[in-house]
Amino acid sequence: MRKKIVAGNWKMNKTLPEGIQLAEEVNEKVKALQVPEVKVILGTPFIHLAEVSKIVDPAIISISAQNCATEASGAYTGEISAAMVASTGSTHVILGHSERRSYYGETDAILVKKVAQALANQLEIIFCIGEVLAEREAGKHFEVVKSQLENGLFQLSPEEFSHIILAYEPVWAIGTGKTATSAQAQEMHAFIRKVLTEKYGKEIAENTSILYGGSCNAKNADELFSNPDVDGGLIGGASLKAEDFSLIIAAR
Ligand code: G3P
Repeated sequence: MRKKIVAGNWKMNKTLPEGIQLAEEVNEKVKALQVPEVKVILGTPFIHLAEVSKIVDPAIISISAQNCATEASGAYTGEISAAMVASTGSTHVILGHSERRSYYGETDAILVKKVAQALANQLEIIFCIGEVLAEREAGKHFEVVKSQLENGLFQLSPEEFSHIILAYEPVWAIGTGKTATSAQAQEMHAFIRKVLTEKYGKEIAENTSILYGGSCNAKNADELFSNPDVDGGLIGGASLKAEDFSLIIAAR
C-alpha cells in the first residue's frame, strides 16, 4: 500500500543556524500532528544533513540530499558522493530536479549514473520528472515525461525500482504560483502509473508513490492530494516555514 509522502525541498535556502531552527520546528510540529500514515522527508542543503539527521525523530521524519555525484569517490573537486550523503544519516536523495536539468545540464545519461550511485549506497530516490510550458502548449507533455522515465529509470530491475519515489513537477508550476489544476495533476499521474504498469507490472506501479510538485501549498494541498494517483507532494517554497509545511502534511 502506498504511503502518503510530503517532502520538503529547501533548495539553496537556510544558512546553518536557520536550517537547524527550521528542522527543530518541523520536528515538533510533526510530532504534535500525530500522523503516522504520512511519511515526511526534509530535503536540505548538504551543509545541514548530518546535524539535521541527529535533530529529527527518524521514526517520523527522513532526511534527503538534493543531489549526489555520478562517481563513487576521487578527484572530483566540489562534488559530494552518495556514500558521503549516506554517511550523514540521510536516507534519501532528490535526483533529476528540473533546476539541475536546466541550470546544470543534467542529462538522462548523467542521471542514470547518479541513480546507480544512490542505489549502491542504499539511498531511496525521489526522482523528478516534468515538462516545460512550451512542451505542454505543444501537447508533448506526455511524451516528455515518458521519455524521462524511460531514459532515466527504466534500466532498473523491478527490485531496484522499488526504491524510487517519483515527483511530477511541471516546470511551469515551480515557484510561479501557477499550480497545475487538480485535473491536470491527476491526468499526468494516472498516465505515469500506466507507463509504470506497462514496464514493471501492476503491483510495482500500484506501490510506487507519485508526488506532485509545483506551487503546492496549504490552500491547494487538500484538493491535489485527494486525487487517487497523487500520493503527496514535493514542496519548495512552502516548506521553508514550519507552519506552512505542517499544514500541507496535515492535508487530507
Ligand atoms: O522540488 C519542489 C519544487 O520544485 C517546487 O517548488 O516552490 O513551487 O513549491 P515550489
